[in-house]
Amino acid sequence: MRDDVDAVILVGGLGTRLRPLTLSAPKPMLPTAGVPFLTHLISRIRSAGIRHVVLGTSFRAEVFEDHFGDGAALDVDLEYVVETEPLGTGGGIRNVADRLRGDTQLVFNGDNLIGVDYAQLLETHRSADADVTLCLHRVADARAYGCVPTDADGRVLAFLEKQPEPVTDQINAGLYVFRRSVIDSIPTGRPVSVERETFPDLLAAGSCVMGHLTAGYWRDFGTPADFVAGSADLVRGIAPSPAVAEPGERLLLPGADVASDAVVDEGTTIGHDASVGPRTLVRGSVVFDGARLGADVVVRNSVIGAGAVIGDGTVLDDVVIGDRARIGAGIELRGGARVWPDATLADGSVRFSADL
Ligand code: GDD
Ligand code: MG
Repeated sequence: MRDDVDAVILVGGLGTRLRPLTLSAPKPMLPTAGVPFLTHLISRIRSAGIRHVVLGTSFRAEVFEDHFGDGAALDVDLEYVVETEPLGTGGGIRNVADRLRGDTQLVFNGDNLIGVDYAQLLETHRSADADVTLCLHRVADARAYGCVPTDADGRVLAFLEKQPEPVTDQINAGLYVFRRSVIDSIPTGRPVSVERETFPDLLAAGSCVMGHLTAGYWRDFGTPADFVAGSADLVRGIAPSPAVAEPGERLLLPGADVASDAVVDEGTTIGHDASVGPRTLVRGSVVFDGARLGADVVVRNSVIGAGAVIGDGTVLDDVVIGDRARIGAGIELRGGARVWPDATLADGSVRFSADL
């Protein structure tokens, strides 16, 4: 048991890029492989022997506590600290300081899954006697992330958040180890960004900031494309989660009703009491609870909101359908289109993409 390490999870963001799904639920509470995303992250933390978990909440704060309570179901000791006004990532970390018990904290962005071994990450931090250690990952396109060049010994040279022309393909993977005293030194009473203020300031002051590069699984679930791909990774056992009991090509939740000649694969989840009609194909997608897909529908890499209804012969590819929306028959939507909750599209009314 790691009683000397607390886990802090930042879950106060608005989830803007995942709208309209995040109008009804905060991003870390969206269902992935049948459970809220955060369940996967907390289960991983628990399986590493860490029990004390503090959630830094703001937007829709009550939803977390309503679901997880004191954490007993996941065998963790869960606490919540609410920001009445969002304090940013650094302010959110500072805001939980009086709940911390150990001298070392693992701090997680609440929308990432990383297959890193936490014990090895902590060892990098301890052996360098670092103030902060950043988990790093290599990506093909670093523009959407924090860019983190390091020297030959793994020491961080700079922290450059979301650069149009990244200087390295090595990015901030959204998991940090903090020395407790560094958290106490973050200013209070105003928003602070760790990415734009705390990390650059620590580097300017000559503090020891280490990088821990990981080659395993990593994904930020914060965009629709990453959300559906990440959910499929969880269902198939590609993304690491002790909360996925039996990985497979599809996950049918209790009450899901799939026609015998429908094809559901590539890591698709069909939610509770949702239905899939005859000859329909659902591939690499997430169908929320109670949604109804008609006959001869094609759904690829898309999210179908709770209680949405999809008419016969409709094609949905790389789209997000809001809760309870009614999509008529013979419609074709592609390329990042989003349909707002409760919207209605008449039969045959749309071909190709638009925000509706
Ligand atoms: N408590 C609290 N308060 N949490 C917040 C706040 C806040 O004001 N603002 C954001 N968060 C949480 C979000 O809920 C999310 O879990 C995490 O902080 C990161 O915010 P995102 O909005 O998802 O940031 P990002 O994905 O654009 O960029 C961050 O993550 C990348 C890796 O996925 C940065 O840390 C990048 O440097 C990093 O590369
Ligand atoms: Mg993110």
